[in-house]
Amino acid sequence: MIITAGIHDLVAEDLHRVEAKMRQFVGDSNETLAEAIDYLVDAGGKRLRPIVVLLATRFQPTDAEKAASLAAAVEMLHTATLVHDDLIDNALFRRGSPTLNAKWSPGATILTGDYMFSRSASLAAETESVRIVKVFATTLMTIVNGELQQLFNNGHDAAPPTLEEYHQRIFAKTASLFAASAKMGGILAKLPEARIQTLYDYGYHLGMAFQVMDDILDFQGDEARLGKPVANDLRQGIITLPVLHFLENHPDHPIIMKAAARLHPTEDEIRAVVAEIRESGSLQRALDEARRFAMQAKKALQSLPDNQYRQALAYIADYAVARDI
Ligand code: IPE
Ligand code: IPE
Ligand code: MG
Ligand code: MG
Repeated sequence: MIITAGIHDLVAEDLHRVEAKMRQFVGDSNETLAEAIDYLVDAGGKRLRPIVVLLATRFQPTDAEKAASLAAAVEMLHTATLVHDDLIDNALFRRGSPTLNAKWSPGATILTGDYMFSRSASLAAETESVRIVKVFATTLMTIVNGELQQLFNNGHDAAPPTLEEYHQRIFAKTASLFAASAKMGGILAKLPEARIQTLYDYGYHLGMAFQVMDDILDFQGDEARLGKPVANDLRQGIITLPVLHFLENHPDHPIIMKAAARLHPTEDEIRAVVAEIRESGSLQRALDEARRFAMQAKKALQSLPDNQYRQALAYIADYAVARDI
């Protein structure tokens, strides 16, 4: 399942504007920085968050220039978090291309990410809405907090997180930005408060579905397509929903405890536990949960007018749990 041409057609013109804004430089700019940003924009990505922003602005006539700035701000923020995340995770590929940290020093990578965070804030400010800038800033704080929780294992020394901690973490790292994207689109379109809340609920559930699916794909995909080794999360000691389900029937599983303690299981151990997890039905249980979140996202949309924008948002919720990348 791919994002269909139909959805791209709805927002294609705006997406061109979004990419142009992402490439645009203000004031003096270092040549290498400009090249890095072009490189990142060229590498693409699914552009799901800016598409959600743009669709949310369509429920009422909205300034197209401001809508594109907001969508560009969100995608720039997302891309900056990936630049820093790949450095933190020591990931060498992203979107099928080498990461900045694979080519550059940590210093240059961090500074490029910093520039992009600042640029994303200036793009958000182009909406001239203090409320939007506040939501934007708060969301970035939430994302960083989520990444830190993950890095420090929620304060546990070695134990896996609880289900509740898992949900809080995926809200922080992923769903918060989807929720904010839909909400900020609604604010820009000057929708009534109830509709803004509806869009937030939609984005929240879409983001939760999206991250649970991401955590499932970590066990399903092959290395060539995902651009990272299978069970990359587990290798790093990050315990996700399929593993939490598996642990219910295999408490204190030695390889998982070793991974959670960041003691780096061997390649053979990883392969063995991945096979066990795949056979256990835990991926299917996680998929059921992802689908429940996607259904809740679609349910939230029911109070919006039934038009092609609402249908597109519903399609994105289905896509989030049917995708294979
Ligand atoms: C990757 O997000 C990071 C997560 C939140 C899982 P996407 O899967 O949306 O990345 P791109 O933008 O399409 O590359
Ligand atoms: C991506 O998180 C970074 C943020 C969501 C802030 P992950 O580390 O889980 O995503 P991938 O697997 O690198 O795409
Ligand atoms: Mg990563
Ligand atoms: Mg990470």
